[in-house]
Amino acid sequence: EKGTYPHFMLKEIDEQPFVMRKIINEYQTEDSELKLDKNVRQAMKDCDRIYIIAAGTSYHAGLVGKAFIEKLANIPVEVHIASEFSYNMPLLSVKPLFIFISQSGETADSRAVLVRIKEMGHPALTITNVPGSTLSREADYTLNLYAGPEIAVASTKAYTAQIAVLAILAVDTAKAKCLELDFDPMQELAIVANAMEVLTDQKETIEELARDYLSKTRNAFFIGRSTDYYVCMEAALKLKEISYIQAEGFAGGELKHGTIALIEEGTPVIAISTQENVNYSIRGNVQEVVARGANDMVISMKGLEQDTDAFVIPQVHELLTPLVSVVPMQLLAYYAALHRDCDVDKPRNLAKSVTVE
Ligand code: F6R
Repeated sequence: EKGTYPHFMLKEIDEQPFVMRKIINEYQTEDSELKLDKNVRQAMKDCDRIYIIAAGTSYHAGLVGKAFIEKLANIPVEVHIASEFSYNMPLLSVKPLFIFISQSGETADSRAVLVRIKEMGHPALTITNVPGSTLSREADYTLNLYAGPEIAVASTKAYTAQIAVLAILAVDTAKAKCLELDFDPMQELAIVANAMEVLTDQKETIEELARDYLSKTRNAFFIGRSTDYYVCMEAALKLKEISYIQAEGFAGGELKHGTIALIEEGTPVIAISTQENVNYSIRGNVQEVVARGANDMVISMKGLEQDTDAFVIPQVHELLTPLVSVVPMQLLAYYAALHRDCDVDKPRNLAKSVTVE
């Protein structure tokens, strides 16, 4: 039920802090240890390479998950678009583990890969919001997202839940492998939940930005580097699917290799800067597009902000910034769609779960 909300999407955006807290509770024992299926723990310990398979928004969460698993658990990770995997099946390692990320657990493209790798005898873990779903039943192990039903076609709370669970999984594996770690995921996720609340309380500001930058435009670009780039891809997808604005997420460094040719007087360019090591470079990219007439909007993290930034997000652990920077992006897409009279919860040509290949 939507309750007092005009749309499920807005309700689901607002639920994200609660989902973070739910995940913290579900993945923690009474004495504050991580609580994870011991078979999942063993499978993570046993593998020599992880293959993440997903589509759309779940694929974007997978890109962030790769960073967690590689940095914290020291296991190489490849992230693949499910529908592409069969054509370009990579050379598999000796002990691969497949992780399927899927809100619905019913995505046919992902299932096709699952069927194939099970035939080959490889282990599979599904991370899903629907534990009884096809991908969950047919995999060896399941991790639940605990996000509650996601009704709006555009995925929001499932994306942040996927990233949170991937962070917990990475830390759990690091602990199981006795690796050095100075990152307490539960403490950091609690900080994220509070930061999300601060952001969902700033809807008016974001609505104004959406009106000023996106209500009339034909296209928009999102630029970022490192993990900010992954959030840019997700931000562009959100905007495309519900507001029908042609949007693209780009790696800042790639602009000069072609995309900058598209910048005209008034083209909206939204830059995300939450990482200290890329702050300087991404701001350089902003100057390059502004010099060509772009209408820039910089979203930065507290501590890295400049006076001209459109919006500053609260500070969280640098690994977890996607959980927070995506919230204004979801809201931007939502309000852009409203200003353009689009059907937010049921965008044209899209289905909530894509059960055909
Ligand atoms: C975007 C969106 C889709 C899904 C994709 C995968 O907002 O909802 O891109 O993320 O169809 O769906 P799941 O996660 O159910 O496998």
